[in-house]
Order: sequence, then structure tokens, then C-alpha cells
Amino acid sequence: MKDELKYLTGFGCEFSSEDQRCPGALPVGQNSPQKCPYGLYAEQLSGSAFTAPRSSNERSWLYRIRPSVVHERFVPVEGASGLDYDWNYARSTPNQLKWKVFDVPSRRAKEVDFVDGLRTICGAGDCRMRQGVAIHVYLCNASMVDRALYNADGDFLIVPQLGSLLITTEFGKIRCDPNEICVIQQGIRFHVTVFGPSRGYILEVFDGHFRLPELGPIGANGLANPRDFQTPVAWYEDRETGYKIVSKFQGKLFVAEQRHSPFDVVAWHGNYVPYKYNLDRFMVVNSVSFDHCDPSIFTVLTCPSLKPGTAAADFVIFPPRWSVQQHTFRPPYYHRNCMSEFMGLVKGRYEAKEESFHPGEASLHSIMTPHGPDALCFETASNCKLEPEHIAEGTMAFMFETCYSLVATEWATTVSNKLDHDYNKCWEPLEKHFDPNAKPATSDP
Ligand SMILES: [Fe+2]
Repeated sequence: MKDELKYLTGFGCEFSSEDQRCPGALPVGQNSPQKCPYGLYAEQLSGSAFTAPRSSNERSWLYRIRPSVVHERFVPVEGASGLDYDWNYARSTPNQLKWKVFDVPSRRAKEVDFVDGLRTICGAGDCRMRQGVAIHVYLCNASMVDRALYNADGDFLIVPQLGSLLITTEFGKIRCDPNEICVIQQGIRFHVTVFGPSRGYILEVFDGHFRLPELGPIGANGLANPRDFQTPVAWYEDRETGYKIVSKFQGKLFVAEQRHSPFDVVAWHGNYVPYKYNLDRFMVVNSVSFDHCDPSIFTVLTCPSLKPGTAAADFVIFPPRWSVQQHTFRPPYYHRNCMSEFMGLVKGRYEAKEESFHPGEASLHSIMTPHGPDALCFETASNCKLEPEHIAEGTMAFMFETCYSLVATEWATTVSNKLDHDYNKCWEPLEKHFDPNAKPATSDP
């Protein structure tokens, strides 16, 4: 799929693309000519208020066979949805939570596509007030058939863990494999093809969009570099068939029929564009003397809240890297945080819990809930010889961190039957080592 994607050269830039079958489809010098080339319709998709500052103003122009408005009326989708935004009915708990691997349903039992396979794990806020986040998993075994989804409530950051996704968007196609992520913004219609059992995590933000974190003293290069983000190239199909458009609107699903494919965009330009990113491209920065930088050095993308320096949502990864600090307990430190931390594991063994956290599992350490390495990790890292060590080999752990206080849904805590009630036992064996008579050799490393 590489040739169907091009690299972003920077956030805030303009991009454009036209399907090679229709050269010249993109109007030159204006957005909305009296008659568009090839008899196309012009349509603007706004991802920010018209009057947002230039630095955060996002919109794209789509040149399509029919405008999106050509559809029947939306009606509620019948049957229960796995999406749940009723936080007030969920039961709060400050406990450390961990979920065992969520099962992908067997295709022999039932075909489940991406939309039907969505399950909300936790969240906070109000998609009507446009503030907050939700965290979901998808558990599916079949491709969507002549139906597309759009999210009127916010943006999806999708983290495949099992199986590749081929995501057809109005802007073109994106293949997203495990160890890659993609972002599908508010309003963009998309269709998901799968190639077998598929599982992954989704971070949904109700306000604003993901952007690269500021680099400060790190300088102009490092962490996720802009050139490594890829956008699709324009691709259209002129297919007249019964098609269902599923709208996630105010947390509920609605569906409208239309008689043509929504993927009929022949050319586009703008800066409101879905994208993907290969997590192996992340340039890791860390201490090369002693102690830890805070895990914010691992931030791939951030969605700012209204509070300066405080993220509504950060997407953070813990990739393979060298660990070289001297005189240092190298695993993540024990801590309590004024932010909520949801973790997942795409592959490998997470260094702070090598035996107690597995690919496809998830954990939630809520605001001010203590957490840190398990007992085995503490004992090993406290007593091992400190040499340069390549850690997290073959591993990709990640964190969704948010300033909001998350609550887990009833599906997550009860119905799924995946809550690990023994999770806190991983810290139980932590022993008391305190000895008031053991004088330190020196207090200065
Ligand atoms: Fe933490």
C-alpha cells in the first residue's frame, strides 16, 4: 500500500491529491468554481470553527461525484450498540484495573464487522458539550459490507493489536498494521476491511485534534517527526449500489441509506486529512546519565485541553530503546498521577510487568491511584548489574493519558468477564527492606 500513501511534510500545511484517472480534477486557484472539472461537486469539510486561529484551523475541500447530502433520512440503528457514553450510570472505583485479553468473536458463530465490534471500556465527559474522551476496543472478524461509519462526536486514534486494517476513507485508502496507528478525524466517512480476527484499541477525543507535542529544548528533530506521517492519495469508486452511512452522533448510532458509494471523492486539498504513522519511526529521547525523564518524552501525539500544558489526551509509547542510566532504578518509578493512565500492549513484554501484562490486555490507573512495577520487576531491577541494555526488544506498549477522571463501563467491568480481579496481587509480594541500621555507603552518586 506504500504507493497509495504520501508523507506529510508538516502539520498545519496544505496537502492535495487527485485520482490519477482524472488528471486536472483539482480546481486551480479557487475552491468553488462555477463548474468543477469533470462535473464534480465541491464540498468543504470543516474540522475547526471557521474563525479558529490559523495555527489550529483545519478544513479540506472535497471534489466528488455527488455531495454527501444525497442520502435518505437517518434512523436509529436497531439493536444494542457496544458503545456506551453514560458515565453517570457506571460504577466509579479508584482501584487499579486490568483486563485480560478481550476475545475476538468466532466468525463461525457470527460475522462481526468493525462497527458492531466496538466496545467502550471507559471514558469521561460529554460529547454534546464537546469535552472529554472515550476509550474503546474493537473486536471483529469480518469486513464492513457496503456501509461506512463517521463519528460526529470526535476523532478516533486507532491502535491495531491483532490483524491489519484496510481503511477506505473519503480521502483514499490507508492500510494500518499492528505497530502502526491511524487517526480518522471527526466527520470523515470510512470503511474497514479486515483480513481475519482483528482486535485493537481506540482513543476518542471529543474536542480538538491530535497534534505533535512541542519539543522545547530537544530542538527541531526528535520524537515523532512530521515527515513520517502518511496521508492517503485520492481514490474514488463510481459505484451505484445500496449503501448504508452509519453516524455516531451524540454517542448513539444512526443509519441512512443511499444509492451510491460515499467513496466518490476524485480530488481533495486541505489540512484536515486522516493519516497513519509507523511506531518504529519514533526517535526515543531519554536520560544518558542517571534517573528518569518523565514519560512525556514518549509522547507521539497530543490533543491539548483548554488548560496550558495539560493534555485532554496524550498517545504515549514505550518502544525498544537503550537503557543506560547509572546508579538508577531503571524501570518506571512508582507514582501517583493527577492524570488517568490507560495502558495497552500491542506486542512483546512490558518491562514493568513482564509476567503480569500480556499483548491485547489493558489496564487503567485512575487519577491518584498508585501504581508501578510489579514485585518481580522491583527485585530484579534493584539487584541487577547496571550495564547498557537494549530493552523492550520486540515490544510496543502504549498509554492513553488524559486529564479527565475516567470511569469504566458496565461492559468492561462486568459483562465482558475480563476484569482481572487478582491484578493488585502483582504488588502484594513487595517486601519491606527498611533497615534503620543500614547506613548508606554514600548519599551522592
Ligand atoms: Fe503511570
